[in-house]
Amino acid sequence: MAYETIVVETRGKVGLITLNRPKALNALNTQVLTELLAASQAFEENPRIGAIVVTGSEKAFAAGADIKEMQSKSYIDAYMEDFFSGWEAFTRIRKPVIAAVSGYALGGGCELAMMCDFIIAGDNAKFGQPEITLGVMPGMGGSQRLTRFVGKSKAMDMCLTGRMMDAAEAERSGLVSRVVPAGELLEEALKAATKVADFSLPAVMMAKEAVNRSYETTLSEGLRFERRLFHSMFALDDQKEGMAAFAEKRTANFKNR
Ligand code: HXC
Repeated sequence: MAYETIVVETRGKVGLITLNRPKALNALNTQVLTELLAASQAFEENPRIGAIVVTGSEKAFAAGADIKEMQSKSYIDAYMEDFFSGWEAFTRIRKPVIAAVSGYALGGGCELAMMCDFIIAGDNAKFGQPEITLGVMPGMGGSQRLTRFVGKSKAMDMCLTGRMMDAAEAERSGLVSRVVPAGELLEEALKAATKVADFSLPAVMMAKEAVNRSYETTLSEGLRFERRLFHSMFALDDQKEGMAAFAEKRTANFKNR
């Protein structure tokens, strides 16, 4: 597929997707969604890829869903096409996905970052759910995922006032896992992704699945789910290799099997 709104590269075992609509601050239109899904699915199916990084430009990760594309939609258009439901497919990617956020991550941009497994932010990052200023509300998960990340009080503040959160506040409140100097963002994100990609892929994928399950179930069911996955790991060659390497004081060489 020839991509027009994203740039797709591989860096070793890492698949790198860069949103690339600079004139619209990477606003997320239908074409971006289609291309992002195709690229991430291709990485999902590529056995040489162990992790994915999604990033934008220095000025904007993404300034939201494309307001100009959706402004003339009617209720019936939105309902019949189940507008925004296509993004759910992105959250079904089973390999780890890291968001590297520089500049604006607003509305759908913040929501896209939150669909990733964790967010590394440049110190210039700004997060927000400004939909209220447009006469609407978050529609790609903002009211649900942001609340789980930062708690009710801050999520209400963000969704009701539309204010932005800077990188330091985002880290303090648990929205991002780490903040790095903006100029080092991509390098740091690729470093983290490479580290993950060098581990056992099935172990990484099961860990991702278990953490995500914690949002969908009770603690006792989640603990049981975790334990069953953990038990299954003793069927992996990588478990034998990882533990043998520790005992023999050498670096593990995971075969992803
Ligand atoms: C379409 C957008 C856009 C967007 C920016 N642009 N954001 N186009 N959709 N979300 C376009 C501008 O129209 C402009 O195009 C160009 O990008 C540069 O933007 P400027 O505003 O000139 O840049 P700047 O002054 O630096 O301001 C940056 C900004 C501002 C603060 C990020 O662009 C902004 O407020 N954008 C909208 C943010 C927002 O409300 N996002 C939420 C969208 S709704 P031209 O052609 O004029 O040069 C959403 C979820 C919807 O995401 C869910 C509810 C259904």
